[in-house]
Amino acid sequence: MKEDIEEVLLPAEKIRDKVRELGQVISRDYAGKDLLAVGILKGAFIFLADLVREITIPLEIDFIAVSSYGTATETSGVVRILKDLDSPIEGRHVLLVEDIVDTGLTLKYLLEALKARNPLSLRTCALVDKPSRRVTEVQLDYVGFSIPDYFVVGYGLDFAQKYRHLPDICVLKPEVYQGTGDKNERG
Ligand code: IMP
Ligand code: MG
Repeated sequence: MKEDIEEVLLPAEKIRDKVRELGQVISRDYAGKDLLAVGILKGAFIFLADLVREITIPLEIDFIAVSSYGTATETSGVVRILKDLDSPIEGRHVLLVEDIVDTGLTLKYLLEALKARNPLSLRTCALVDKPSRRVTEVQLDYVGFSIPDYFVVGYGLDFAQKYRHLPDICVLKPEVYQGTGDKNERG
């Protein structure tokens, strides 16, 4: 495991501080409102779990699971909902929580899909942003970190479903994912 890691980009303590800060801003922005935090599975499960514990206003939690077709490290832009929300969001203040925004295609697709269900408000929160990779404009309301074009793992983020449990966000050695251009799904 350690031998697959090039460097620790965002250590756990730095992530914790940032998540706390995001939680405080979100608590302030949504004061007096009923919030529905929607985690995008699987990647956002750790971020959402930590984020909601830093939010001090009443909230509910739901999950949506998506899969983007492409290679292991590149999205094709075709997104499929694998698990939909449990409850309707009409009239709710919805905050979509994502681990990382890369091309922006996944979040854009989900925003369109959820907007059609008439939420009272719809905002996005991403722990990590890779702005240089964007192929479509997408609304990002709360962002933890902007990073260069590295493929990162840990804190929920995977490569081929591995490394999600690492407490830090780490840059994976390119040789680990190079040569894996085969078709598969990720999320
Ligand atoms: P997008 O649709 O290209 O913005 O990709 C979003 C999804 O791709 C994220 O939710 C992640 O699951 C995955 N992803 C993008 N970049 C990375 C990365 O550096 N490490 C792990 N997963 C990534
Ligand atoms: Mg994801």
